[in-house]
Amino acid sequence: MRIGILGSGLMGGKLGTLFARAGHEVVFSYARSRKKLTRLAREAHGNARAGTPAEAAQDADAVLLAVHWSRVRDVLKQAGNLSGKVIISCSLPMNADDTALVIAQRSSGAEALARMVRKSHVVAAFSTVPSEVLFGVFKSRRKRTRPSLVYCGDNTRAKQIAARLIRDVGFDPVDAGPLRIARYTEPFALLMAQLAYEGEGGAELAYRFERFRERT
Ligand SMILES: NC(=O)c1ccc[n+]([C@@H]2O[C@H](COP(=O)([O-])OP(=O)(O)OC[C@H]3O[C@@H](n4cnc5c(N)ncnc54)[C@H](OP(=O)(O)O)[C@@H]3O)[C@@H](O)[C@H]2O)c1
Repeated sequence: MRIGILGSGLMGGKLGTLFARAGHEVVFSYARSRKKLTRLAREAHGNARAGTPAEAAQDADAVLLAVHWSRVRDVLKQAGNLSGKVIISCSLPMNADDTALVIAQRSSGAEALARMVRKSHVVAAFSTVPSEVLFGVFKSRRKRTRPSLVYCGDNTRAKQIAARLIRDVGFDPVDAGPLRIARYTEPFALLMAQLAYEGEGGAELAYRFERFRERT
């Protein structure tokens, strides 16, 4: 598939690299320097290149939205017409200093995003995983047991694309249902981040937590 990366930081940079290594065509976009995008494309060792958000979105089978919540409108504007596109979003609706969700309980960032891009198909995925574990999960992808990763969305084709990408990265995709389920998974993602970045044991603890389903 052709995947456009909108936001090439910790999540977008790593996921784009892994999508390219899994055989997809990837366009990295939206970082503060073009040099960084070019380096990411070169180091992906696959079919990857640097581009603008509009180039990343053009002809893409799916775009990955991986920017801070405060940058969502800007990157969408730069991407241009996303009508009919599949948008896989890992972006959480966080405040400026990343200490709290600004949308929760009765809605979610994913649902707010779907309202911003009404003619696109939003799938919420990858927000529950700390970026630190992604390469390790990919490396272990041929093992019999894989960590689970939940995703949700309202469009069947978009969810199939997301499930394939989740599988390609090395996770076992778990369909959590319609997009409104994101209002339950997003606070959970915050807990995961807290475990990963602030707790004893760090990312490893979060990774083990994801395997909970297999251990019970
Ligand atoms: N990191 C995680 O483990 C994690 C886990 C789950 C969910 N998330 C969510 O995923 C989303 C992305 O997180 P992240 O950690 O990947 O963030 P990040 O590392 O800060 O990446 C954001 C990207 O946006 C780019 N950017 C920011 N301001 C820009 C501007 N003015 N012009 C152009 N590009 C700009 C950054 O450029 P530079 O590369 O130049 O900085 C970077 O490439 C967030 O919504 C976060 O809540 C993150």
